[in-house]
Amino acid sequence: MKIDVVTLFPGMVDIPLSDSIVGRARKEKLLKLNFENPRDFTQDKHKTVDGKLYGGGTGMLMMAEPVFNAVKKVKKKNSVVVLLSPKGAIFNQKTALSLAKKKHLILICGHYEGIDERIGKCVDIELSIGDYVLTGGEPAAVAVIDAVTRLLPGVLKKKDATVNESFSFDLLEAPQYTRPEIWENLKVPKVLLSGNHKLIEEWKKSSALEITKKMRPDLLKKDE
Ligand code: ADE
Repeated sequence: MKIDVVTLFPGMVDIPLSDSIVGRARKEKLLKLNFENPRDFTQDKHKTVDGKLYGGGTGMLMMAEPVFNAVKKVKKKNSVVVLLSPKGAIFNQKTALSLAKKKHLILICGHYEGIDERIGKCVDIELSIGDYVLTGGEPAAVAVIDAVTRLLPGVLKKKDATVNESFSFDLLEAPQYTRPEIWENLKVPKVLLSGNHKLIEEWKKSSALEITKKMRPDLLKKDE
């Protein structure tokens, strides 16, 4: 998959996505990340990318034109253009699964007070990573790219690594344990040491339901 990120601050996306699983996916060319800086698409000698708000208000707003021209440079027929913004639909595992099937994504990161509303002209989907305001869309782009990349074929080595985990089936994952069997007087649940796969699966299912009821009851109400 190819992902173009339109951002004034490429380092905020590039550096966090250089290590671990995504870093390896980039080295193996399973993910190709490219950055376009709206500053390179300005016409004036000051390379102006932002301005004051019409109608008043604090802070600076990014102008639509340099962002639009950056998108135009990389956009192809099969591109999906995603704007990261606190006003977008909440990003979840379902959206990650759907984006992971695309050949080319263009992620637009707003900064300061965001981008002139008219950028909507070139946007297919607007996504938020939660009900809080970040300094810019960059950390949100990192979250989206991370969640999408791990779903790409060949990125996680174990075939079913993404099957049972949190949110794939609207349930949180059952608690997990590793060595030692007893730590700080806390024991690993006996059933997990039993070797009885049927019992273990039953335990995982009921634990998943229990933890979802406790921590995220909203997930269980979604289909009602
Ligand atoms: N930009 C600022 N806050 C954001 C958020 N919560 N999600 C996506 N982009 C953002």
